[in-house]
Amino acid sequence: MKKKLTFLGIETSCDETAAAVIRENQAGTADILANVVSSQTKEHEKFGGVVPELAARAHVENIDFIIHKAIKKSKVSLNEIDGVAATAGPGLIVCLGVGLSIGKTIAGILKKPFIAVNHLEGHALSPGLENKLDFPYLLLLISGGHSQYLIVHDVDNYKQLGTTIDDALGEAFDKTAKMLNLSYPGGKVIELYAKKGNKKIFKLPQPIINRAGCNLSFAGLKTAVLRETKKVKMNSNFKYNLAASFQDTVIQILSKKTKIAMEKFTYETGKQNSNFVVAGGVAANAAIKKELILVSKKMKFIPLFPKLEFCGDNAAMIAWAGIKRFKKNLINDLEFKARSRWPLDLNAPFMKGPGLKI
Ligand code: KG4
Ligand code: ZN
Repeated sequence: MKKKLTFLGIETSCDETAAAVIRENQAGTADILANVVSSQTKEHEKFGGVVPELAARAHVENIDFIIHKAIKKSKVSLNEIDGVAATAGPGLIVCLGVGLSIGKTIAGILKKPFIAVNHLEGHALSPGLENKLDFPYLLLLISGGHSQYLIVHDVDNYKQLGTTIDDALGEAFDKTAKMLNLSYPGGKVIELYAKKGNKKIFKLPQPIINRAGCNLSFAGLKTAVLRETKKVKMNSNFKYNLAASFQDTVIQILSKKTKIAMEKFTYETGKQNSNFVVAGGVAANAAIKKELILVSKKMKFIPLFPKLEFCGDNAAMIAWAGIKRFKKNLINDLEFKARSRWPLDLNAPFMKGPGLKI
């Protein structure tokens, strides 16, 4: 029987300092021996968003302790670790450097293989921590920094079907919350407010809903929310209704664009009854989840949402991507540099900036 691999994962691409120790199991998924996440929400709350220098400083202050805590909790001794995986991009370069260099150092000292992980690949493969999945599958990644539809053909093999041409969906939630004077990060609080509101009160735009395939756009929606907040003196009811209308508009957009992405997936792969995986922090939203499950049923896809602790940023998914890459001999040397931009599909057109034609 082949040895089951045990990996240390490290994640510092944005505002979560995280370390995890995981081990492959007989079921072909992972035993999570430790999954430690320290969120910096408090540090960034008063600014309504992540401040890169503050984030980097907090990573430097916390990372040794978080890694130590994960190893201790896992009850694994250092010589039992078969490899170290650290997020190397995309993300804030000053933040990535912290986890990457400590990951390389640990791997160097232990003389174990080092894997530089693309954070997006971490999210893309994260459902494999708990489920045995068949490639290819369709992925919708919706987080604070990214919103994209991808065909996951295999480890290290992705085709982008659509992406946002402006804001990421999580960013739109965060900015809407900020405009309503609500706390950061905004996704969870908007979801709570939306439950108390009437979604029919505000008619908000659905940018590029009838064009550009399954590409997404949220900037116009955000501007429309801003316009509404300027018209009146806000009270709680106003906020509930605007949050409900905003969330419902997002749901309508995702519903339509997901159907398009599913048609494209089926056309390109010819595969029936495939998995539809929704990952990233926004996948925690129950109303979005409900609608995407309905769409999946209609389109004959099998929906799969990673457990909440694996939806947002964490290091278990980085360790898992590390194991998967290691098994394909995708090992990196200790010269590997952090990358602020690192698309999963290197052939996908760059979809942001002036002069963009869609
Ligand atoms: O994946 P993630 O933890 O970090 C990034 O890689 O960006 O995603 C964080 C994003 C934030 O924008 C947050 O507001 C959003 O996920 N989010 C939600 C919910 N919970 C977190 N958005 C909508 N509804 C939620 N319940
Ligand atoms: Zn993420």
